[in-house]
Amino acid sequence: MSRNPVTVPALQRKKDAGERITMLTCYDATFARLMDETDIDLLLVGDSLGMVIQGHETTLPVTLDEAVYHTRAVARGSRCTHIVGDLPFLTYQASPEQAIMSAGRLLKEGGAASIKLEGGIEIAETVRRCSQAGIPTMGHIGLTPQSVHQMGGFKVQGRDEEQAEKILQDAIALEEAGAFAVVLEGIPEELGKRITKQISIPTIGIGAGRFTDGQVLVIYDLLGLDMSFKPRFVRRYAEMGKMVIEAAQAYCDDVRGRGFPNADEVFRKTG
Ligand code: KIV
Repeated sequence: MSRNPVTVPALQRKKDAGERITMLTCYDATFARLMDETDIDLLLVGDSLGMVIQGHETTLPVTLDEAVYHTRAVARGSRCTHIVGDLPFLTYQASPEQAIMSAGRLLKEGGAASIKLEGGIEIAETVRRCSQAGIPTMGHIGLTPQSVHQMGGFKVQGRDEEQAEKILQDAIALEEAGAFAVVLEGIPEELGKRITKQISIPTIGIGAGRFTDGQVLVIYDLLGLDMSFKPRFVRRYAEMGKMVIEAAQAYCDDVRGRGFPNADEVFRKTG
């Protein structure tokens, strides 16, 4: 499919027109090429790569070099999709200057069109400085995986009114600071709806109910690649974990039974 990547102003127009926004994570060139055959709006090179690619328990160990590496791979594979690079833990929290330099690498070396970082009011000044530097910045509030230890696990946030009000204020602060969109993760549906109504930039939900402006999922979850992981907010559109096992087992059986390669699958001398 050939089309132009969705720009930041185009995303805003989608919200204004009430059109839904679609985002999936992507970590390599092969998947990026496949995503180009769809009309997905955004590809997020999420720091979830630490869990689904690298096998860590959390996203915390991911380094900036690794984020740049995966972003570059996705950028090589994709011609048509807006790529969002995710800033890993401790590559932006120390100061706005640190954030600008880290974000700059995702754009300059990684080929991302924008970046995402976690946090609300406490990170608003950093969002302002990145935006002023010409780096489109997406916020991420609610369940923020980089704060897993502070939250005491990957737990839904904003269940009580005080917490919900804090998350709403985070969203407002991000909008005022110049964020072009905000991911709402792991919050009650009513709060997702309230924030989406209250702020004018697009909200993109994951486990935030039906009323956000867009949705994002980790592509490995959507494809069912981890058969043991099926939280409530994930819908599996394929059972690829099962397919991969069946395909690999069929290959093993064929090799052992001398069914692979067959006569058509070998090179022959020309002369
Ligand atoms: O890293 C990631 O994949 C994310 C999404 C789940 C929003 O931040």
